[in-house]
Amino acid sequence: MSFSTAFEILRESSPVVSVGILTADLLSLGSELALLERSGVQVAHVDVMDGCFCPMMTVGPPLIKALKTPLLKDVHLMIAEPLNKVADYVAAGADMITIHPEACSHVHRVLQQMRMMKNANDPERGLVRGVGLNPGTPLEVLEPLLDELELILLLAVNPGWGGQKFIPSARGRVEKVKRMIADSGRKILLGVDGGITRDNIADVAALGVDLIVTGSAVFDGKAAEANAKFMLEAVKKGFRIQDSGFSCQ
Ligand code: DX5
Ligand code: ZN
Repeated sequence: MSFSTAFEILRESSPVVSVGILTADLLSLGSELALLERSGVQVAHVDVMDGCFCPMMTVGPPLIKALKTPLLKDVHLMIAEPLNKVADYVAAGADMITIHPEACSHVHRVLQQMRMMKNANDPERGLVRGVGLNPGTPLEVLEPLLDELELILLLAVNPGWGGQKFIPSARGRVEKVKRMIADSGRKILLGVDGGITRDNIADVAALGVDLIVTGSAVFDGKAAEANAKFMLEAVKKGFRIQDSGFSCQ
């Protein structure tokens, strides 16, 4: 059975590793993406930062458009007031777009607007609308948005840089959001982003999330292909632990 929408692909492949490309060799991005493809990675995570919502500035629509890859493009918008900017990222080929309520005057309106947008790669693929929450943002913010999103992305670092330490409170937040999603009765993907390395990725997968974002632990400048393969294996192992109901607390 073939899955045509990005949401279905993510749901059927869950848990999926989404690899952040910020610390990849940006002058050889084509071969870095090819490395991810042959490793079996399905999703490339692009952290868009504007230097206003979060301290760093990174990339914009031209780079996303330049990414020639069959990988799903997971665009994480850490930008202020995305309402009139999201369309440019969709036009550039994003398959998934995550926005932050902390950065929006009208987050519900942005999500409503995104509902009408077409995936520029393939209209059949649809667009996964994500809401990202910084570690300090109360989870209650999600309640009024559950009917207008397909992905919740919990940050386990404060946005701005790769290579930060995983904030332990993210574990409890995952459990609470899992209950929120179950109570909503909606099919919503849950992801974790930031501070995920070889040492903790299996534990994160064992929490029962659908999407795991890891960047600098893959593109470490030394062994990206081996890192990517390790992460994929570790996620399968973590998923088996979660699936078996055994939790090594
Ligand atoms: C927050 C970004 C994350 C981060 C991931 O800064 O949303 O995607 O860059 O990078 P690592 O995996 O290095 O923490
Ligand atoms: Zn991110």
